[in-house]
Amino acid sequence: MDIISYIKKVPKAELHLHIEGTFEPELMFEIAQRNEVKIPYNSVEEVKKAYQFNCLQDFLDIYYAGASVLLYEQDFYDLTMAYFKHCAEENVVHTEIMFDPQTHTKRGVSFETVISGIKRAQDDAEKNFGITSYLIMSYLRHLSEEDAFETLEQSLSYKHLIKAVGLDSSEKGNPPSKFQKVFAASVKEGYKIVAHAGEEGPAEYVWEALDLLKIDRIDHGNNSLTDEKLVNYLVENKMALTVCPLSNTALRVVDDLKQHPIKKMLDLGIKATVNSDDPAYFGGYITQNYTEIIEALNLSLEEVKTLVSNSFEYSFLDEETKKKYL
Ligand code: ADE
Ligand code: ZN
Repeated sequence: MDIISYIKKVPKAELHLHIEGTFEPELMFEIAQRNEVKIPYNSVEEVKKAYQFNCLQDFLDIYYAGASVLLYEQDFYDLTMAYFKHCAEENVVHTEIMFDPQTHTKRGVSFETVISGIKRAQDDAEKNFGITSYLIMSYLRHLSEEDAFETLEQSLSYKHLIKAVGLDSSEKGNPPSKFQKVFAASVKEGYKIVAHAGEEGPAEYVWEALDLLKIDRIDHGNNSLTDEKLVNYLVENKMALTVCPLSNTALRVVDDLKQHPIKKMLDLGIKATVNSDDPAYFGGYITQNYTEIIEALNLSLEEVKTLVSNSFEYSFLDEETKKKYL
């Protein structure tokens, strides 16, 4: 079997996916209309034209604006179910989904509305497609630590529905150290820990995420490669990176997929995985990420198999369940 057919068919896990980043323009229009919310676009084509980014902040401005049409439990259900349908088509059998509660609670939508809609879709996806999923609650790093503490507090009634906490949004100027206390409190509550680090920010932010936040996994982590000591640490400690190739080119973290560092990461012994981040905005879901990076870097079948097995090995699934896929 050729590599592209292999990657389409093989069961995969996705470990870095923002549910708000799966909001396709067609569904955005539909929900905006039924909720009678105005968006600054007249057509799906106009929305797609706006998806040209020079940096992370360009994208985030549009991403938060898009999410503003989500008001009701059914909206969060529809958003999440649309993503699960992609998973079913692409043989994603397990996914660890990030959601940004503050994007919604700041607009007066309750934590309960958000998580109930997502949870109902998770249950239906497991029942109808056999897809398992975990939730990762991400704190927005452009907001204060106090704000993150409020979010942690709100999450506690739903602790049984949340596997991990994460850190996302504008990285530069918002280092992990800003959130040291709230992550310590989150660990105490039993949450696993991830954080975006080294996407636009420097290798020092990855060190901070490791040393101060006590992360179990790094989201992106590209800039780790600028620091040899850090690379050695990641390899020795089997610290996985959730890499997102199409996100990296869309946000100009990497100029061209041919220069993408994922092959170098594998060569160095880093536990890299392939993920889609915000597929509605960056040009494709997980299989598209795999196929484009395979072609750009001429990855071997062995390398692709490593990426797929890493996606299960470094998931938060229990060891027994992992064995099914490894
Ligand atoms: N939120 C959604 N996608 C993100 C990304 N790639 N980096 C930081 N925050 C995000
Ligand atoms: Zn992300």
